[in-house]
Amino acid sequence: MTDEKIESLSKESRLFLPPTNPTAAVGSQEEYERIYRRSIDDMEGFWAERADELLSWEKKWDNVLEWDFDVPEIKWFSGGKLNVAYNCLDRHLENGRRNKAALIWQGEQDQDVKVYTYQMLHDEVCRFANVLKKKGIKKGDRVSIYLPMIPELAVAMLACARIGAPHSIVFAGFSANALRDRINDCGSKVHITGTAVNRAGRQIPLKPNTDEALKECPGVEQVVVVDSAPGYQADMVEGRDVWWHEEMAEDDVHGGCPCESMESEDPLFILYTSGSTGKPKGVFHTQAGYLTYTAHTCQWVFDLKDDDVHWCTADIGWVTGHSYIVYGPLALGATSLMFEGVPTYPNPDRYWQICQKFKVNIFYTAPTVIRALMREGDQWTQNHDLSNLRVLGTVGEPINPEAWMWYYKQIGNSKLPIVDTWWQTETGGHVISGLPYATPMKPGAASTPLPGIDAAIIDKDGKEVGPDEGGFLVIRKPWPGMLRGVWGNQERFKATYFAGFPGTYESGDGARRDEDGYFWIMGRVDDVINVSGHRLGTAEIESALVAHPAVSEAAVVGMPHEVKGQSIYAYVTLKGDEDESDELRKELVTHVRKEIGPLAAPEIMQFAPGLPKTRSGKIMRRILRKIAEGDTSNLGDTSTLADPGVVQDLIEGNADLT
Ligand code: WTA
Repeated sequence: MTDEKIESLSKESRLFLPPTNPTAAVGSQEEYERIYRRSIDDMEGFWAERADELLSWEKKWDNVLEWDFDVPEIKWFSGGKLNVAYNCLDRHLENGRRNKAALIWQGEQDQDVKVYTYQMLHDEVCRFANVLKKKGIKKGDRVSIYLPMIPELAVAMLACARIGAPHSIVFAGFSANALRDRINDCGSKVHITGTAVNRAGRQIPLKPNTDEALKECPGVEQVVVVDSAPGYQADMVEGRDVWWHEEMAEDDVHGGCPCESMESEDPLFILYTSGSTGKPKGVFHTQAGYLTYTAHTCQWVFDLKDDDVHWCTADIGWVTGHSYIVYGPLALGATSLMFEGVPTYPNPDRYWQICQKFKVNIFYTAPTVIRALMREGDQWTQNHDLSNLRVLGTVGEPINPEAWMWYYKQIGNSKLPIVDTWWQTETGGHVISGLPYATPMKPGAASTPLPGIDAAIIDKDGKEVGPDEGGFLVIRKPWPGMLRGVWGNQERFKATYFAGFPGTYESGDGARRDEDGYFWIMGRVDDVINVSGHRLGTAEIESALVAHPAVSEAAVVGMPHEVKGQSIYAYVTLKGDEDESDELRKELVTHVRKEIGPLAAPEIMQFAPGLPKTRSGKIMRRILRKIAEGDTSNLGDTSTLADPGVVQDLIEGNADLT
């Protein structure tokens, strides 16, 4: 934690009104305010109502909430019993949704489509749950999963939930070392993997990574392998590896599988945070609170309705996919679309082609995707019928206003609501976000806290800051979807989230709140740059750079400076047809000066063909800082980088400059 406030230099002031919709869960700003006040004044009453309305309980809870952030300990709905898979599947078989599409899967090839009705998905899940039971998995045992974006991934998750075995999904883009560490940390005995990932017309091997990782995972006894990339030949280890399709064809796995009766606070899953800083943490979530929260946010933030097709483009390996491809939409009995592929293959209009093909209504993606597609030019958005889209969403990082405007105009036809959802693996679901038919939109602002979320911005002494002053974004009361711990390390749980400001949850993000009460996320507090005593967040400076027509992406970090303490070092990726010249470099510095002020003007500007990102698209500023400081001997953990090759390019580019 550092000492001072974070200064804001942003001048963004545009405002767009949301469309009206009389059937919306929350239909106006006044209604939001009324519900919000009630949810804070009577938090337990509010959440009890929601939990009752959204979930089917085997036994109702005794206490809505018990909590103490100093221990820390948080319990929601204790004494209650339920099963998450029952809520996502079984109950829909009886409420008229049996033959409704639960999951639509689009493979990389246009003709590769699979549709699972609720009945079909239920049956697959029961069968795989039986497979797991045959392998000795019982309630409480962990199962690690390393699969591409194929239906078996959702089936495996729900099968784990059905028998009460917490799953730990590792994104299929992670390396063998990253996989090894996560498997060992969660202590899984059974591991599920695929042969290879289909990506942009190529097959990327997955099974060899598993084999490599498992050399150093003594706890894993059995591996179930999905033939995820037909044609790819994977080596099977005798006595350890079995094929998914063979196990699922056995006679004794048919005939249904009862749901395990779970306590509200039993763990549901472990998910390692993206690791943009330090060693990954096994954030874990529990049954009732998490499911209440994801169903609730899906219903209110996306206004998800029964006949909607919901498409969240995230990978299920991230929390976004857990909450908004699988658990939230299925708990509501909606239709969720899952896509195994990339936005630019075979062409940069793939997403819009899929939106048209399935008449997608709710579309949820990340700013990094929007910027990448924006760079390809407007022609790709224009030949598709996007008229079924109703709500657009974004998540993952602050969306720079330039990208927001493009999304609004090109995809939203200048009329659809965009929900900019701020949340974290730790929060389980959206915590700060506009509501699509209630909140006036400001490009780049995450807007206002959702009902039940007591968010605040405080200074180093824990005092709330005034309007437009930057500070630490914290949440002062528990909400049902929040993490319950760091797997096997409650000390770290306390130290990371509850020690900085005793009595509050510390998010690690910096933010400011404007006069209308809107939250503007300024980036991670660890990334703040201190120029002559002015502490600047990264988001605003990067947004200013991206607002220049020649720039497609930018990342800024601090570098040591004799006089100023730190100065700004900017890495800039240009749009395809732009030339890297000294003139442009100067022009960009002038541009930032003009847009947000001389203080933010970069001292050094390096043109970068690509930026080091995690596989979820987050820029790893830790690595950029090291390069800027000229200290590249120890770059720390780079195993989660999407493309490790960019680092060498950047080191060479830095050497040319300095
Ligand atoms: C950032 C992803 C600004 C933030 C759900 C947070 C955002 C981290 C937004 C969590 C947003 C996410 N605006 N910043 N709408 N959404 N972030 O755990 O820094 O992968 O702390 O969860 O992403 O990333 P995670």
